Amino acid sequence: MTLNARLAAVCLSLLTTSCYYSNHNALHPNSPQAERIKDLYWIMFGICAVVFVLVVGAWAWAFGVGSKRAEARVDARTQSTLRRNVAIAVVITALILVGLMVADYAVGRANSSYSATPRNALTIKAIGRQWWWEFVYEDSVASRSISSANELHIPTGRPILIKNESRDVIHSFWVPALQGKKDMLPGYTTTLWLRADRPGIYEGQCAEYCGHQHAKMRLTVIAHTPTEFARWYEASMRPAVQPTDSITKRGQEVFLAAQCVMCHSIRGTDAAAKLGPDLTHIASLRKIGANSIPNTRGHLAAWILDAQSLKPGVRMPPNQLSPADLNALLAYLEILK
Ligand code: CUA
Repeated sequence: MTLNARLAAVCLSLLTTSCYYSNHNALHPNSPQAERIKDLYWIMFGICAVVFVLVVGAWAWAFGVGSKRAEARVDARTQSTLRRNVAIAVVITALILVGLMVADYAVGRANSSYSATPRNALTIKAIGRQWWWEFVYEDSVASRSISSANELHIPTGRPILIKNESRDVIHSFWVPALQGKKDMLPGYTTTLWLRADRPGIYEGQCAEYCGHQHAKMRLTVIAHTPTEFARWYEASMRPAVQPTDSITKRGQEVFLAAQCVMCHSIRGTDAAAKLGPDLTHIASLRKIGANSIPNTRGHLAAWILDAQSLKPGVRMPPNQLSPADLNALLAYLEILK
């Protein structure tokens, strides 16, 4: 394959993958906010494409016909015509730029607020950490407040107020199919509105470089119908399933005796640390390691033994467990649905 053919193949595959990966794509909006961003994108793209064609056309004309004419007769009249044309082009350019700025500002303003906080709004605190996300669902009844890690579950058709915080460095919350980016700053709360129109799974990504594993700081938004969301919420409020057979009982003992309890919590057991994700319902997660690794038995085993090999720099330390203890621990974690 020639170099040109190879380059063409790479470009084509990049183009097609970006088009088909529609749940992580700002051009496949699923919310009123992302819809506005998409419209703004196409307006800017269209205007800039027209300007590009006109500029390249004028440039080609100047090199061809224009330069021949200029050589033929450079008099005072030609000079003043040229000056006038340049002045007109500068004014048009400035008008276009001001127009785009106004459109950009209008979209930013419309996307950052509702005219008044809707009465049925759901408030969720999003906390960025190196390198995972914690979501805390606030409820006026404290016992109904729950949290989830890396998976943000929301009901469709309902405005969601995301309150962004950070526990270490600056992160940025970004789910392209639902909204624009919003920085998460240590010691300061920023807010963002979301509203998914259709049930679905929308991928997100930390959009501010935050250290070694910035790229593996992913999140998934799962938009449910209101009934399904209520069911998920009730299930998430429940404490962890208790082990019933000897192997899962042994697994729970391994968990509580190992260094797992220094960072993680499992509601319904003595493990109540808050440094790492809450593992009460770990078996129902689609992925682990901030949505970068499939949640299968093999990956979970590798993660427990040596998370550094899967995600270098992650805060999770290596664990030395005998094969029997590891098996029991995995069996226990697998019942935590
Ligand atoms: Cu967090 Cu990049």
